[in-house]
Amino acid sequence: MATKHSEIGIGSHRSIAADFLVVGSRLPFDVYIKERGGLKPLFQKGMVFTNMAREILKEKGLSEAYIESGNVDILKSYLARTKQEDDTTLDKSPIFKKYSFHKDQHYQIDRKLIIPGTSINFNLYSLDKFNLHAVIEADADSPAIVESSLDQLPGDIVINKSDIQLYRDYIDSIIKSPAAVKDMPSNVKPIAIRESSKMVIKDLLDDPRSGEVINKSEEIVTNLIECMHEDNDAIYDLLSLSNYDYYTYTHSVNVAVLTLGLGNTTGMSKDRLEELGLGALLHDIGKSAIPQEILNKQGKLDDYEYRVIQSHVIAGQNIISAHKSLSERSLQTLLQHHEKLTGKGYPFKLKGKYISLNGRIAAIADCYDALTTNRPYKQAFTPFTALSVIAKETGNYDPELLRAFIKMLGKIK
Ligand SMILES: [Fe+2]
Ligand SMILES: [Fe+2]
Repeated sequence: MATKHSEIGIGSHRSIAADFLVVGSRLPFDVYIKERGGLKPLFQKGMVFTNMAREILKEKGLSEAYIESGNVDILKSYLARTKQEDDTTLDKSPIFKKYSFHKDQHYQIDRKLIIPGTSINFNLYSLDKFNLHAVIEADADSPAIVESSLDQLPGDIVINKSDIQLYRDYIDSIIKSPAAVKDMPSNVKPIAIRESSKMVIKDLLDDPRSGEVINKSEEIVTNLIECMHEDNDAIYDLLSLSNYDYYTYTHSVNVAVLTLGLGNTTGMSKDRLEELGLGALLHDIGKSAIPQEILNKQGKLDDYEYRVIQSHVIAGQNIISAHKSLSERSLQTLLQHHEKLTGKGYPFKLKGKYISLNGRIAAIADCYDALTTNRPYKQAFTPFTALSVIAKETGNYDPELLRAFIKMLGKIK
């Protein structure tokens, strides 16, 4: 086993999903990880892969590890022994390409909104382990009645992207006339509001210079606040806990919901909440100006790329100010969501009391949601682990707000 990671080329190794390593199994090969552009040996052949070892990979945010290319046969027998299929080999695998294609062509929807007894006029599929299966086939000429709940179906439920408008109309009809649906579950309204908010924000991010940005966002925030005030538990249904992928529009809605929930615990008035929620909903709108290759890059960013990412804050302010001025408090929410109390945040490196209450609230919500969502380069933390990670960053986040946040999320499973 080589000792200097800089001497090991990635070309002589192949990637494996970190999930392949099964806790309790003895590793039949050396395992390497990518660090500072090279490979570094991490686990030695012969060692038992323990829970602690898995935590190390998790803490490093790694979803991929490497083995020597010559060990492919040994990998196969290891996978057979641990009853896995080598179907997640990244990048070059045709299956992975197929999966990426499906992700590109489809839009994940919330299965809880496909309510038995309602009629749909678009196809529904389940995307399970890289394979797409039709669940319900329907179109405008031949709508279908949903016969049973989709709760038990494996995989993610997706629709063709070209059917998004039909899905939106379907959701609107549920929100507008819930009485028309027999046995409507009580949490459908918040879920429907979340779904329609996500789609509105998706449109806004696709066309951020549209004059509609602020008006539509204000409408969403008003709906979210109303929904939360009607039902204290709505916050849990308003959050998109989807693991399909990371999208800025999902993240934006989640951060708005989390900041509103946290703002509410501080006793803010409705007007104050509206300002907070609006800034939170638009906090990452500047990401629409960042090239996708940098935004979705796998692995570590170099200094230049990191600076480009950081520019999303000011880019966001520029996009917004092109239309209409935001109130001071809304703008602070957007501008300060990456500031840290220690002064190590960006873009202004503000310290402690110089960061507004809205900025401090948004920073906690933003970090929490980023940690609990799958990214191209890392798997999501559980809510519990995410909160522990944030709590460990002593000094960066407002301790009182953090306590209130942990209390608020205590109910999330
Ligand atoms: Fe951000
Ligand atoms: Fe964010």
